[in-house]
Amino acid sequence: MSNYHIKHLEEYYQVYRKSVRAPENFWEEVAEEHFLWYKKWDNVLSWDFTKPDVKWFEGAKLNITVNCIDRHLTTNADKTAILFEPNDPNEEAESITYKQLHERVCKFANVLKHQGISKGDRVCIYLPMIPELAVAVLACARIGAVHSVVFAGFSSTALATRINDSACKMVITSDGSYRGAKTIDLKGIVDEALEDCSCVDRVLVVKRIHSKIQMKEGRDVWLQPLLDKADTDCKPEIMDAEDPLFILYTSGSTGMPKGMVHTTAGYMVYTAYTFKNVFQYKPEDIYWCTADIGWITGHSYIVYGPLANGATTVMFEGVPSYPDYGRFWQIVEKHKVNQFYTAPTAIRALAKEGLEPVEKYDLSSLKVLGSVGEPINEEAWHWYNDNIGKKQSPIVDTWWQTETGGIMITPIPFATPTKPTYATLPFPGIQPTLMDEEGNELKNNQVSGRLCIKFPWPSMARTIWGNHQRYKDTYFSTYENKYFTGDGAFRDEVGYYRITGRVDDVIIVSGHNLGTAPIEDAINEHPAVAESAIVGFPHDIKGNALYGYVILKDVGETRRHDNLRKEINQIITEHVGPIAKLDKIQFTKGLPKTRSGKIMRRILRKIACKDTSNLGDTSTLLNPEVVKDIMDNAF
Ligand code: WTA
Repeated sequence: MSNYHIKHLEEYYQVYRKSVRAPENFWEEVAEEHFLWYKKWDNVLSWDFTKPDVKWFEGAKLNITVNCIDRHLTTNADKTAILFEPNDPNEEAESITYKQLHERVCKFANVLKHQGISKGDRVCIYLPMIPELAVAVLACARIGAVHSVVFAGFSSTALATRINDSACKMVITSDGSYRGAKTIDLKGIVDEALEDCSCVDRVLVVKRIHSKIQMKEGRDVWLQPLLDKADTDCKPEIMDAEDPLFILYTSGSTGMPKGMVHTTAGYMVYTAYTFKNVFQYKPEDIYWCTADIGWITGHSYIVYGPLANGATTVMFEGVPSYPDYGRFWQIVEKHKVNQFYTAPTAIRALAKEGLEPVEKYDLSSLKVLGSVGEPINEEAWHWYNDNIGKKQSPIVDTWWQTETGGIMITPIPFATPTKPTYATLPFPGIQPTLMDEEGNELKNNQVSGRLCIKFPWPSMARTIWGNHQRYKDTYFSTYENKYFTGDGAFRDEVGYYRITGRVDDVIIVSGHNLGTAPIEDAINEHPAVAESAIVGFPHDIKGNALYGYVILKDVGETRRHDNLRKEINQIITEHVGPIAKLDKIQFTKGLPKTRSGKIMRRILRKIACKDTSNLGDTSTLLNPEVVKDIMDNAF
């Protein structure tokens, strides 16, 4: 029996048991059978969650792009690696074969080298969903540069913070991007960001929308002429297993985003192995994940996981609503997509439009449907199952995080019976557990608790860039010897997990993780604002929306409330990005605080959710009178 491809439930249980009984043998077998190594490891795993220090495949030498591209050239050179579907349905789709991808990545890698980038340097990539984004990522990996992709919906301030935090030497961007009927001036955003970044000395600019932009002399260069001159072969840099592959920022409970560092060998092995099994990918399949490469889902399951399996992966530049709400289904029909992976927020937005846009298209190619990024509610699950999968395509509700690098809890399609709203069972090698708030492990079934992982897995982030202490404090200090996910979960009578949501100050809005602190910091920059607190409340499409409680410096300001609301959202857009705008803003005289000065968000959350019948213990409040006032004036 091969561990690499699980096809039945009994096989899953067998493989799972083996992966827990002898994790090192298990992962060693997977790594040996399916990848190209310049040198094999001396040691499969060493770990200590107290430091925390985790190393997989220590001593091994490899290059991930050789595994994602070169090794397919002997058998699959002319197979499509990336199938690019542009924003505008009238623009032609582009097929990039493995051979062409090899050439494009090599050329781009040579450009990076000529521009002074070498192994270990950080390169920030701020691009729309065009092929150059995937090519840039792989070009960095080819030469051992560490890529830091920043989602191109982030504002200039957010971009600058991320560039500075990891001291990127270069930014790769475009003259702009298409987003539905709109265009966005990405280069302008980069220019603004770079006013605050002294570390960047080179900006490579991809031509996409052919708009007139400013090019700063000595700093900015167009990419295409450099590519035209570049050599078509680039020797891969030989990397150590634990060399950093990329940094990807995720929100945290303070204003600074956390630069999660992923390393090379473990990440490659785990994303490839999960991709194969979670999507049951077969050699001729067309796989499409609708995420943006600016998020971990795009890194692991548009680029690295699929390409490591020699798959055809679709990259879509546009949005689900343009030119109309049938766009996703039109693409499924056009490219005969077999595996479709998206987020609950997209499913809810599409379900709201009714069945007409769905029924126009032939969706019979679909075999597996995926969901990721937030809990999928029962209604959305059934809509997806009934109308998109026609009850024939299993839904894989995949739970994981930027920090975990790959899918952790998920059904294996055609093996694990699915259950609406349940991510079901841990993937082989993953040892989840639930903890109560006092730190006791909950060993029984039918319990709710805080989700932790007891044992290392190959694709876990190794540190936070430049701040190992924060890595330890955030993930390894809440519960002894366990990785704490920040999520709550319920385990049912057969051991299936249902993720109930964040238990910290991160709110997931339309599938995007937003820390409350950076948004509050942005609001507090407004000259009229004294203090603010953000909480989430349920929203039909976005899953959660944001509710802000704002204290003004001058109470007389009340006459200008509507303007202030606009200005506050404007400031948030500038500092964080439009995804973090508040749906409701309530001006208040005070915020409920404990005697030690901490805002009691639990109470604010209940008021925002209109769940005020029982506010819980308010006896520790310094100022109980504000609670009534807030309730009386709530939306
Ligand atoms: C949430 C995305 C419920 C969870 C890959 C997690 C989910 C956070 C699911 C990580 C799911 C992700 N069901 N909740 N299937 N998948 N989440 O870092 O709260 O963007 O901690 O990674 O999304 O979001 P991130």
